[in-house]
Amino acid sequence: MKEGNVLFSEERIKRRVRELAVEITRDYAGKPLTVVAVLKGSVRFLHDLLDCLGEHLTVELIEASSYGDRTNSSGSVLIRSYGQLRVSGRDVLVVDDIADTGLTLQSVVSEIETRGARSVRTCVLLDKPSRRRVPLEPDYRGFTIGDVFVVGYGLDYAGRFRDLPYIALLRPTEKAR
Ligand code: PRP
Repeated sequence: MKEGNVLFSEERIKRRVRELAVEITRDYAGKPLTVVAVLKGSVRFLHDLLDCLGEHLTVELIEASSYGDRTNSSGSVLIRSYGQLRVSGRDVLVVDDIADTGLTLQSVVSEIETRGARSVRTCVLLDKPSRRRVPLEPDYRGFTIGDVFVVGYGLDYAGRFRDLPYIALLRPTEKAR
């Protein structure tokens, strides 16, 4: 990945994640919180957020996928591992790397509400509101981006680039490599 493709550096992301954690900690004010992370894209974000969030929380993991190997949402969201999800009566924060069409978060939030959570909020590192297909507004967002395809810091293209510690633009010519 070329240096010129970097959209958000590792330092900038870490700083913003710390700011989000301060906001979340203040809003929940010591109340026990259940973080539900949507794999796989959220894995780095979750790690860094947990570093800053402190005590009084439990973590649940689910896996959702809507993209396959494409660069736009297929429109149908496949959620795995709801089976063990313990959210009844809890204050839940759903953590994901990006809100694009909003279909994934909408589907996850709706399932968690159905399972009797006391409250559900959403937290994303990246928000791409121009592509929204459902009325979903993340409660916490790191950065708002335009209609560009980004990779790194957990976000992939066909399984690649998740390991990058920064977020970069993936131009059409780079997809084939
Ligand atoms: C990505 C991303 C979000 C979702 C956002 O997941 O991690 O979960 O898409 O898109 P949406 O707002 O249009 O629903 P993906 O389906 O690529 O699975 P992955 O996290 O395993 O890469």
